[in-house]
Amino acid sequence: SGAITIDPGYKNSGSCKSEITFLDGELGILRYRGYSIEDLAEKADFLEVSYLLIFGELPTKVQLEQFENDIRKYTLVNEEMKNIIDGFPKTAHPMGVLAALTSALTAFNPKSVNVENEKEMYEAVCKTMGKFLVIATWTYRKSMGYPLNYYDNTKGYVENFMCLMFELPTEPYKANPVVIDALDRLFILHADHEQNCSTSTVRMVGSSHAGLFASISAGVSALWGPLHGGANQAVLEMLEEIHKNGGDAEKYIAKAKDKNDPFRLMGFGHRVYKNFDPRAKIIKKAANEVLSTLGVEDPILAIAKKLEESALEDEYFKSRNLYPNVDFYSGIIYRALGIPTDMFTVMFAIGRLPGWIAQWKEMRENKEPIGRPRQIYTGSPLRGFISSEKR
Ligand code: CMC
Repeated sequence: SGAITIDPGYKNSGSCKSEITFLDGELGILRYRGYSIEDLAEKADFLEVSYLLIFGELPTKVQLEQFENDIRKYTLVNEEMKNIIDGFPKTAHPMGVLAALTSALTAFNPKSVNVENEKEMYEAVCKTMGKFLVIATWTYRKSMGYPLNYYDNTKGYVENFMCLMFELPTEPYKANPVVIDALDRLFILHADHEQNCSTSTVRMVGSSHAGLFASISAGVSALWGPLHGGANQAVLEMLEEIHKNGGDAEKYIAKAKDKNDPFRLMGFGHRVYKNFDPRAKIIKKAANEVLSTLGVEDPILAIAKKLEESALEDEYFKSRNLYPNVDFYSGIIYRALGIPTDMFTVMFAIGRLPGWIAQWKEMRENKEPIGRPRQIYTGSPLRGFISSEKR
């Protein structure tokens, strides 16, 4: 009861208490369970960070090995899922296919997770981590018309991603440690970001006690939009367009500033970071390192740097605190690793998966009530019905 206050976009409303991720937008600080993102990106690996986010502590060596083994147990995806994949046209966007396949997993795992049963929760976590990775790569295999690959138990989680994606029947995939390392770091940087749009969606759907797969599938759909995870694909397409049109960064800066033009500088701005995005700093450095180690020369990197430089000097961007975000340089690395552009947001989803799981688990364990915002009604007052002849 009492007056309802509205806050479109929840710019200033907290939806929950959480122990998972700390974010200070003014100071550009991001921490998972108290560990700084800089430390984790440099020293940890993705499964370690996933365990930390989901279970609250860094795993011991034994726990980590166990976790990796348990995920492996669940990397087989029901064969009937392949029929579903076959039903999609090759041209379908991988994110649409991923959302549908994640949702389809509910058909083969119908039981809703009892979060109070630790064993059952743990199993659900491992299942989600295992199966999601495999189906994420299948969305690409399908679009290429390649046969689907299976998880290789002799290899690590991130290396498996590359094999699942790129191994051909005639040509085994040879992992380059530089590539695996870069991917590992990118996944860590995407692993959680407190109550962003997709995570809030996962929590909201889960708050009705819908199952884990159904909630994650909704998160995938939310992530797909260009204002959220879809920005990484949009950035690369923007950079390619600028390159094709002669590399005139200033023209696009002017377009982004023009309020009559719907164009926005993709990969710029953030709801919470008003100083800088600490992930973007790490990714920019990684982009330089990865490209030079792999010997890739990409003119698009130079365009991105020019855009950033111009924007950071521009009064429009300065006065609105618009800085490059996580999506600005990540695509340049993905591209150097041979990941196709329409798979970029799928990469984000694989990285964000442990965060979604951790937040869903925390929400259920804290016994949060069903999410049900209110509104202020602005429609017509009471009206009498008029029969169709008289309208
Ligand atoms: N280019 C040009 N102008 C911008 C941009 C941009 N990228 N971002 C914000 N603005 C302007 C906006 O027009 C507004 O100006 P004014 O005050 O004159 O009306 C002001 O800055 C504030 O923007 P807002 O839209 O009110 O801010 P928001 O917090 O609602 O939106 C955002 C945040 C990330 C959606 C937005 O900055 C944006 O659309 N950026 C481009 C898309 C993008 O890169 N998204 C990825 C976000 S980070 C990772 C993730 O979540 O996936």
